[in-house]
Amino acid sequence: MKLFDVYPLWPIEPVKAYGCRIIDKEGKEYIDLYGGHAVISIGHCHPTYVKMISGQLHKIGFYSNAVQNALQQQLAQELGKLSDYGDYSLFLCNSGAEANENAIKLASFHTGKARVLALRKAFHGRTSGAVAATDNPAIQAPFNRTGNVTFIPMGDLAAAGAEMAKGEYAAILIEGIQGVAGIFEPKADYLKGIRELCDKYEVVLIFDEVQSGYGRSGRFFAHQHSRVRGDIITVAKGMGNGFPIGGVLISPLFQALHGMLGTTFGGNHLACTAALAVLKVIREESLMENAAAMGDYITSCLKGNRAIKEIRGKGLMIGIELKEGYETLRNRLLFEKQIFTGGAGKNIIRLLPPLNVDKQTIDIFVEAFNQLTDDTN
Ligand SMILES: Cc1ncc(COP(=O)(O)O)c(C=O)c1O
Repeated sequence: MKLFDVYPLWPIEPVKAYGCRIIDKEGKEYIDLYGGHAVISIGHCHPTYVKMISGQLHKIGFYSNAVQNALQQQLAQELGKLSDYGDYSLFLCNSGAEANENAIKLASFHTGKARVLALRKAFHGRTSGAVAATDNPAIQAPFNRTGNVTFIPMGDLAAAGAEMAKGEYAAILIEGIQGVAGIFEPKADYLKGIRELCDKYEVVLIFDEVQSGYGRSGRFFAHQHSRVRGDIITVAKGMGNGFPIGGVLISPLFQALHGMLGTTFGGNHLACTAALAVLKVIREESLMENAAAMGDYITSCLKGNRAIKEIRGKGLMIGIELKEGYETLRNRLLFEKQIFTGGAGKNIIRLLPPLNVDKQTIDIFVEAFNQLTDDTN
């Protein structure tokens, strides 16, 4: 059997990794400023993570959600404390798309309405509901184009108000910081205005923190920089540091819907242990603070580079928009300097490194970046 192709592949096969480093099968070592797409939050093979998961594997790896699982309770407690959403309930699933799918479903159950609002350029995942709320027709099958989603521009409160006033919408989905679009941050005033509109028209506010959450922005959730609260918050990626797990944080307003969701694998013993290890390391090693400090450091080091049109983002979710030459630069970073970076949009290099990246590693990147951009200018 062949593999069903997913993405174009780089000709590199990682076989080992530690911290912010990846080693391929030829023994070449790379710096990882991509984190496998914002997934590696506490660094590859962190000793606490390895110890906790291996220990759990010797006890019990999986049993279904038909029995009690104290690890889930513990995870809900810890996540509540660190995220400041301790009064919410947690539904555990396996991925970001699945978290969004369940969030939309809850909002629709709660309001009895079928339509949702999403922002232009949004990315919420590839399952049916999530992809319908993703502003990219190229990845939607006819089945996904239900007409139940309206896309509105980020920042335009009048457009949001006009749609919500129709009384047809269950929810609005907003990424804490738009990632796949190329790192676009909703402004605090906009989010405050959206919160007011949602309260006025009884529309559920869903923050998709799948990419921007888990400390990446320097706060636990990116929307918390704006001091607003969501009704539902979705998480995944950094939550398991590579172990597949997603979550939906659900406001007490939805109390009546307990029992309406289900899953086979979600919240299994190994996944919960991975997620507990991640929270422990984020807390014990002050990784939110490190993300904020290292984000500022990268941005200040790159300031003044003439190849850059704009640097956007918060903490360790950084978009470097280039004037030109994006593809060449990204390839040269990877193949000549052995540095993994992410991409987005047409001309944007995306940095999503592990939250414990250090100055020394950043200095290597900055030197390589400046040298390669000097070559082309
Ligand atoms: C903001 C956002 N939401 C949802 C998803 C989908 O997550 P997953 O690939 O785990 O389904 C992604 C993935 O990139 C994302 O960036």
